[in-house]
Amino acid sequence: MERRLALISPLKIHQNDCEDYIKECIQFGVETHGTSRIDEMPYDAWLQQVYKDLFGDVDYKTRVPATTFLVYHHAVLVGFVNIRHELNDFLLNYGGHIGYMIRPSQHNKGYGTEMLSLVLDYCKTALKLDKVLLATSPGNSASERVIIKNGGIYEDTRYSEIHGDSKRYWIKI
Ligand SMILES: CC(C)(COP(=O)(O)OP(=O)(O)OC[C@H]1O[C@@H](n2cnc3c(N)ncnc32)[C@H](O)[C@@H]1OP(=O)(O)O)[C@@H](O)C(=O)NCCC(=O)NCCS
Repeated sequence: MERRLALISPLKIHQNDCEDYIKECIQFGVETHGTSRIDEMPYDAWLQQVYKDLFGDVDYKTRVPATTFLVYHHAVLVGFVNIRHELNDFLLNYGGHIGYMIRPSQHNKGYGTEMLSLVLDYCKTALKLDKVLLATSPGNSASERVIIKNGGIYEDTRYSEIHGDSKRYWIKI
C-alpha cells in the first residue's frame, strides 16, 4: 500500500492547524477522539500534558504513559492518535491501547486504515508491544472496519455504567 500519511509529534508550530481542526469538529458536531482532550485546554497546556504523558510523568492512579501524534497528509492535518504504552484496569476493560480519529471532511479516503497501520509499526518498534487492544462502541462500523482491516480479532464486549458497551479487539503485531 502506498504510504501517504506521517505521524508527527505536536509542536507549537502546529497550533493553527490544530485550532482549525477543532473548529471543523465543532462545525460537524463531532467529539474529538485520540487527541488527549485538546479541545478542553489552552494549546500550550495541552502540549505540556502531551510531553508529560510521553515521558511518563503521570499519576498512575488515573493515567499511563502515552504518545500523541498528529496525522498529516502533506501539509494537511487529517487526524489525531493517542497510544497508551500500557493498560490499566480501565483501559484493559474499556479503553484499549489506541484512540484515534480522522477529521470529518477527510473521512472515507482510507486514512483511518493507513493511520492504524502506521501506529501498529510504532507500537512494535518503539514500544516493543507484541499485541494491542482496541475498543470501539457497537455501531461504530467505520472504526470496526479500520480495526478488522488491520487484523483485529474480536474478543468480547464489556459494559460499564459510564461508557456503556465497549467492543474489544486484539491485534497481534
Ligand atoms: C473511524 C474513523 C477513524 C475511520 O476513518 P476513515 O478515514 O473514514 O476510515 P477509512 O477511510 O480507512 O475507512 C475504513 C472503513 O470504514 C468504512 N466506513 C467509513 N465510514 C463509514 C460509515 N459512516 N459507516 C460504515 N462504514 C464506514 C469504509 O467504507 C471503510 O471500509 P471498507 O474498506 O470496507 O470500504 C473515522 O470515522 C472517525 O474519525 N470517526 C470518529 C472517531 C472514532 O470513532 N474513533 C474511533 C474510536 S477511538
